[in-house]
Amino acid sequence: MTDIESIRSALPQLVEEAKRQLRDATDLESFVEAERALLGKRSPLAALNATLKDLAPADRGKAGEAINEARSQLAEFAGSLRREREAESNRRRVDAERLDLSEITAGPRRAPLGFSDNAVGHLHLVNQTRDELEDTFIAMGFDVVEGPEAETDWYNFEALNMPPDHPARGMWDTLYLRLGSPETVLLRTHTSPVQVRLMESAKLPIYAVMPGRCYRRDTPDARHLPVFHQIEGLVVDEGITFGDMAGVIEAFTESFFGEGMHSRLRPSFFPFTEPSGEFEVTCPICGGGGCRTCSGSGWIELGGCGMVDPNVFEATGIDPERYSGFAFGFGIDRLAQVRTSLADMRVLLDNDIRFLSQF
Ligand code: DAH
Repeated sequence: MTDIESIRSALPQLVEEAKRQLRDATDLESFVEAERALLGKRSPLAALNATLKDLAPADRGKAGEAINEARSQLAEFAGSLRREREAESNRRRVDAERLDLSEITAGPRRAPLGFSDNAVGHLHLVNQTRDELEDTFIAMGFDVVEGPEAETDWYNFEALNMPPDHPARGMWDTLYLRLGSPETVLLRTHTSPVQVRLMESAKLPIYAVMPGRCYRRDTPDARHLPVFHQIEGLVVDEGITFGDMAGVIEAFTESFFGEGMHSRLRPSFFPFTEPSGEFEVTCPICGGGGCRTCSGSGWIELGGCGMVDPNVFEATGIDPERYSGFAFGFGIDRLAQVRTSLADMRVLLDNDIRFLSQF
């Protein structure tokens, strides 16, 4: 038979024992478990509470108060200890994830924290994709050419058949640089200005691709990045036809994506090509059968293309009576996204090693 005195005398020892168990649980997980065992429904304090009904009615209130007080004392102790444990666990996690960017290591390269010792870094998915594209075009006989990322209005727009105030400029939301120079300087919105530079300076014929970084005043979302990459293609020679363009795009598609992958063209508009097209390739995810990535169509739109507009030849000093050519351009990040089924393109900019190391 329980009496109030035995409850009163049992309490201090019970609280001390509980505190000891809490102190002994040094990691957060075992602490949370101990806390539940010592303060929860199956705790010794709860068991003691359950004996109250056996007391003389006059003692029940007082004994209940004593148990409650012991309980809140223990809960307070547990609370402050839990905050310490949580802080420690946080500190440990941050330490484990820390990358020391100021660290210089001599000798063999070290694996990032959390990776096996022989793991070394590698090119970013976008750079791997660019390299593969370059290799594919080099194998087809193309040169690789680069141009500046800060461009003048002339190269980005005007020489591409877009005089000032031409409405087609609205197709590209542009970031302008205030450099105090008489020419308007901007961050190129596409790789097409490199075409212009090449036509101005190169010897003909031209068979070249031009990869590089581009900028647009866009809010990043699942399918757009304000900083992204394109690859441009340009062929200028005597007697080049629309059929040559379709053939080159098809050959590229097969060579890059693999056998059984095809391309198709649909009419479109770009100021620097006439006629212009959009080209699509067999969806690399479903192989043309139809899936979520291609909205069931079996095709993925890759980029724009067309026959170089005679005005662009004239702006760059090439005789349009003698030469003809075609151009194309598409997004490298988009291509990487489609090929690897990334739901959200923004992961390409996060630099999270858990993502990067998958490719
Ligand atoms: N520059 C275009 C864009 O960024 C893509 C493009 C379309 C490039 C047609 C071309 C072309 O060379 O012929 O939207």
